[in-house]
Amino acid sequence: MAIHWFPGHMNSTRNAINDRMKAGLDVVIELLDARLPGSSENPLLAKLTQGKPSLKLLNKQDLADAERTAMWLDHYNARPDTRAIGLDASVAAPAKALIKACRELAPLRGGMAKPVRVLICGIPNVGKSTLINTIAGKRAAKTGDEPGITKLEQKIVLDNDFYLYDTPGMLWPRITVEESGYNLAASGAIGRNAFDEAEVALELLHTLRRHYAANIEERYKLGDISALNDEEMLTAIGRKRGAMLSGGRVNLQKAAEVLVYEFRQSVLGRISLETPEEFAGWKAAAALLESGRKDKKKGKAAADESPAE
Ligand code: G4P
Repeated sequence: MAIHWFPGHMNSTRNAINDRMKAGLDVVIELLDARLPGSSENPLLAKLTQGKPSLKLLNKQDLADAERTAMWLDHYNARPDTRAIGLDASVAAPAKALIKACRELAPLRGGMAKPVRVLICGIPNVGKSTLINTIAGKRAAKTGDEPGITKLEQKIVLDNDFYLYDTPGMLWPRITVEESGYNLAASGAIGRNAFDEAEVALELLHTLRRHYAANIEERYKLGDISALNDEEMLTAIGRKRGAMLSGGRVNLQKAAEVLVYEFRQSVLGRISLETPEEFAGWKAAAALLESGRKDKKKGKAAADESPAE
């Protein structure tokens, strides 16, 4: 899928993370969208903060399929130097759990001389501001006064010896896993002008029919959807919702907007778009494609360089 977005703060955020690595960093918190944990995990962040313990917060768990969230938590908790916690805006006192997990991940830090320094990152719209507003409360003082540290970074003092450094939401320059592009677009992480809503809706329906057919049938009163292809399903949804054009044709754009909106608001039920196993398969296929693309490029460059016979 072609996604036309300009990843706004990307370069400056990348520099801010590099600066934080140099200035001192003990744990990286990454906020993931519990409906698409794999797709919302930033490969660029992993590269920039290599070697640092990681806390994955699977946020918006209230919108996700609880069974799948449990699978993802197990998946991340099995990684070395990694902890994972499910979270949503209704969880009382999330700071306590977060501070505890970070202290466990950095057991040699703590106390005024060796404060725990934690970076918090996440893709746009994952709920980072909401979480920070909750945990910062009145206790936290926002400053940005460390020399050599960009103003993009906000320091939040959560405890005498516990500092949280906040960075702007960041996507990465090129999404190579195609399914991730669709899932990110469906979730609301990518601005709506950057992709074709009908294409995203069709992909969303394709995923939903395999795992959540009953939710679709029930919500849109479609009966058995197994005989319909994705486009026929979107057409039927549009018709049910009165998204019509003149001449009795269905307005597929409008139908797509309805579907994507209702998915985001969890009107369709608690849905997760991927399992760890599915995501691993997509990633492996994308890596294969990518290496084929690179080989082709190399071959072309070599052919261009070799003298004409
Ligand atoms: P960001 O800083 O990471 O960009 O995200 P922000 O906190 O602004 O949250 C983005 C949207 O997600 C907000 O909705 C917010 O209320 C919602 N949100 C945050 N945490 C949770 C959660 O745990 N569960 C649910 N269900 N929603 C959450 P919004 O203001 O309505 O924005 P939008 O959805 O219209 O973009």
